[in-house]
Amino acid sequence: MLNDIERILISEEELDAKTSELASEISEDFKGEELIVIGILKGGVVFAADIIKKISIPMEIEFMAVSSYGKESETSGVVTLKKDIDTSIAGKNVIVVEDIVDSGYTMKYLTKLLLDRHAKSVKICTLLSKPSRRKVEIDLDYVGFEVPDEFVVGYGLDFDEKYRNLPFVGVLKREVYSK
Ligand code: IMP
Ligand code: MG
Repeated sequence: MLNDIERILISEEELDAKTSELASEISEDFKGEELIVIGILKGGVVFAADIIKKISIPMEIEFMAVSSYGKESETSGVVTLKKDIDTSIAGKNVIVVEDIVDSGYTMKYLTKLLLDRHAKSVKICTLLSKPSRRKVEIDLDYVGFEVPDEFVVGYGLDFDEKYRNLPFVGVLKREVYSK
């Protein structure tokens, strides 16, 4: 598995420091408010698990699954809801926790869906952002790291469902995803 990694982009230590930083920002911003964190399966799960442990205010956790990617490393632009929550979010503050915002289609779709259900507010917390790849404009409220236009894996992010368990974020060797 490590042989397929070109280089480490974000180390375990950097991830740990960043999740602490974002969690304390969130804890401060939502003090005295009702908060639901929605982790996006599967990529956002590792990040969501780390961040919620560091949030110091009462909150609930839910999960949703969406897909915009097939097996290829390029987005189709068509987003489908694969797993929904079964609780009402009406009047509540929602933070969507995602692994990476690339074209922006996925987060655009989800934000609209959650606002249509009358959430009080919908914020996006993403570990990574690839601004150079954006196709639709989208406001990101909490961003871990901006990354260059390279295919990255680890810490929840996959290629063909693998590498999610790597404890760091690394650049995948081109030969792995272009074969
Ligand atoms: P978007 O709708 O194009 O913003 O797509 C976001 C989704 O694409 C993420 O949730 C990831 O599943 C996937 N994705 C985009 N770039 C990468 C990458 O570099 N590595 C792994 N998955 C990625
Ligand atoms: Mg994903």
